Amino acid sequence: METHDVPQQPARRNFIKKTCAVFVGAVTGLVPAISGLIVFLDPLRRKSQDSDAVLVASLSSLPADGVPRKFSVIASHTDAWNRMPRVPVGAVYLRRIGDEQVQAFNVICPHAGCFVDYDLSKKSYHCPCHNSSFALDGRIADPKSPSPRGLDELDVDLRNGNEIWVKFQNFRAGDKEKIPA
Ligand code: FES
Repeated sequence: METHDVPQQPARRNFIKKTCAVFVGAVTGLVPAISGLIVFLDPLRRKSQDSDAVLVASLSSLPADGVPRKFSVIASHTDAWNRMPRVPVGAVYLRRIGDEQVQAFNVICPHAGCFVDYDLSKKSYHCPCHNSSFALDGRIADPKSPSPRGLDELDVDLRNGNEIWVKFQNFRAGDKEKIPA
């Protein structure tokens, strides 16, 4: 049986040419757009310095008997696009446990975000807003406390024998779990 090549129709050739032209044009146009987007979003890939530990106090400034003291946390805030000078970003209670251990709590009440006080006579933390109370170790002291969890403990690093570095972090209020805010 005889076979014949069927010549391409001019209309079909034109269609293929146009499709190729559109495709090449689209790719050519996308390259600078994607490059611009990468440059624009690049700061988002940078790590926020808020997550780093900051020097808060010296070990010698804490009472040896374990009574907590409140300290401001001063840090340079860096977000995706801005680097700001050192500013107060929060506060912590620090307390000494033995000679070489320090415990740190965020002063913000996990119930609804008020500042917790330390009651020296009761040796416990107390939130004046809705009467949550917390033991020295941060756990809920009074079961009637509305706070869904104990005080938010923070990571502490003791450096050079006397420097207390705290990894400061705020957590979502009103949640049973400790979720970074
Ligand atoms: S905010 Fe502390 S008990 Fe409500």
